[in-house]
Amino acid sequence: MRMSIEFSTRVARAWDGARACENAQMRAAPLVLPASLVTALRAARSVAVLTGAGVSAESGVPTFRDAQQGLWAQFDPRELATPSAFARNPKRVWDWYAMRRDMVARVAPNPAHFALAELERRVPDFLLATQNVDGLHRRAGSVRVVELHGNITRVRCSAEGTVVAQWREPADALPPRCPACGAYLRPDVVWFEEMLPADALAAAEDAARRCDVLLVAGTSAEVYPAAALPELAQRAGALVVEVNPNETPLSADAGHVLRGPAGVVLPALVAAAFPG
Ligand code: APR
Repeated sequence: MRMSIEFSTRVARAWDGARACENAQMRAAPLVLPASLVTALRAARSVAVLTGAGVSAESGVPTFRDAQQGLWAQFDPRELATPSAFARNPKRVWDWYAMRRDMVARVAPNPAHFALAELERRVPDFLLATQNVDGLHRRAGSVRVVELHGNITRVRCSAEGTVVAQWREPADALPPRCPACGAYLRPDVVWFEEMLPADALAAAEDAARRCDVLLVAGTSAEVYPAAALPELAQRAGALVVEVNPNETPLSADAGHVLRGPAGVVLPALVAAAFPG
């Protein structure tokens, strides 16, 4: 399924969401972990997790819009993150991602990432599906991870799709070329108007269908198809838990809503369910 929602609206909302989050964090109420949730998590044989940009917020990973500083501010996002933009101006798109790759290389996983890595070690059947492209879950020690929107630290051949481990940043006006076929290399991320990797999506859907508990952390739950996973889990009988300082379209339907930053809530939840 293609990543869907009207693009400029989506980016504007992410911007508003980040501001609303700052406000919500300032007003944050003391965290209450319902005993029934702690018990359910401890007893779960199968846990699935869906994460979004909010989980990386406390690492300082800038949102798409936040990263549009300086000379990048003049561009419509459609000129930076769509297949047609890459066809029209491959160098501009390559440089935009090279700049963001540098930003991601300078940040580190935060307590939310580490708590989810710890949760994976405590649960027999576990899958973490992330919409984030920063690779921070793996850097925190998570292993059973599917990256629904790809990974900004990797590049692949724009013609064959083969991931290329090493490349040289271009000195001239064009992106580097695939060593096998000579086509341009591109970031290994899912652009707007593109399909999600079918195997990653299928694995996430399977995990959502079979899990006892689904944690949904740091996502506005608006970008499909990832946003459909909570409903899939709920229909299959899972307990769906939202971790977000702000209200989302999922909040009304979630079994539990934990209002607060993921870097505070997730470590507390995992420690409560699995002390010692
Ligand atoms: N802890 C938890 N949640 C947070 C935090 C935090 N510290 N800070 C912000 N949030 C929440 C916001 O309240 C918001 O609901 O994270 C969510 C971020 O929403 P989006 O920016 O819409 O990010 P996401 O849901 O991951 O978007 C999905 O859309 O922009 C595209 O491809 C991009 O992967 C992204 C996809």
